[in-house]
Amino acid sequence: MLSVKNITDIDCLTVADINLIMENAETFSEVLSRDFKKVPALRGKTVLNMFFESSTRTRNSFEIAAKRLGADTMNFSASASSLNKGESIIDTVKTLQSMIVDLAIIRHSDSGVIDYILSKTDIPLINAGDGKHQHPTQALLDLYTIRQNYKTFKNLKVAIVGDIVNSRVARSDISLFKKMCMDVTLVSAPMLMPENPDYFGSKIVKSIDDVIEETDVLYMLRMQFERQAKKYYPSVQEYNRFFSLDKKRLERIKEKSIIMHPGPVNRGIEISEQVMDNMENFNGRIKINRQVENGLAVRMALIYLILAAGGAGKDNIETNN
Ligand code: CP
Repeated sequence: MLSVKNITDIDCLTVADINLIMENAETFSEVLSRDFKKVPALRGKTVLNMFFESSTRTRNSFEIAAKRLGADTMNFSASASSLNKGESIIDTVKTLQSMIVDLAIIRHSDSGVIDYILSKTDIPLINAGDGKHQHPTQALLDLYTIRQNYKTFKNLKVAIVGDIVNSRVARSDISLFKKMCMDVTLVSAPMLMPENPDYFGSKIVKSIDDVIEETDVLYMLRMQFERQAKKYYPSVQEYNRFFSLDKKRLERIKEKSIIMHPGPVNRGIEISEQVMDNMENFNGRIKINRQVENGLAVRMALIYLILAAGGAGKDNIETNN
């Protein structure tokens, strides 16, 4: 069992929790490889998707994950809801909870909104991304993807590149990767970093060229334009010069190294059009689509581990109907 009933951030998880999530994700990856990709583990449970901010990967993968576990799903649309009539977010959550919802998946553009909802309600929830704060399920699927490529996390060299200051993925990944004893280097510029550069306690370098030949995992962050009230970088050309992945740089990575990106990719900024158009041609080193695929198994594991504590057993994972 997990030590927590909500997934709010990476800090709330113990190493034992993380290992349990990884092991369960492996079980669900096997389920997803079957002809019939569904188990009845959570029949009768209801999972509520509340996305107050745009999403393609996270929202759809949570919805499919819940369905593959046999749960009912409810999709809340903020723009068509009574929020428009002045209902508060807390009253909205409580109203939907009254419809016997077992778990809420919440994404919001405000950092800290998840903790606020938890302080006012008792609905079990998973943070699907809150502002610049945390995106724990992205970090867990990233870890699972790394685990498929390396036998051990210890001392693995990870370079996280780009817009650190605006990125909830960076916050969650840095925290998780360090917890698993990886060696994390940040590749960024002062205007894309927190005011206190020592905030993360990681080594910082100024160009992707400083790490490209030695890194095991090159993690490209998205430029978070929607969170940039000011211009954080002089020009795309300048960004490309220090931080972008193109074919020439890709040819310099170590033989076993992998490339990751949480998506969506700003083509021509974080990764060149040429690399994006030929992702499958680099010996399977670019894991962007694999990260999406793994998101489903990891989210099944999380939903299962939270709701199964209420009674569903492992036997139900193994039953094929
Ligand atoms: N990586 C990620 O969170 O993508 P979405 O915004 O599409 O969910």
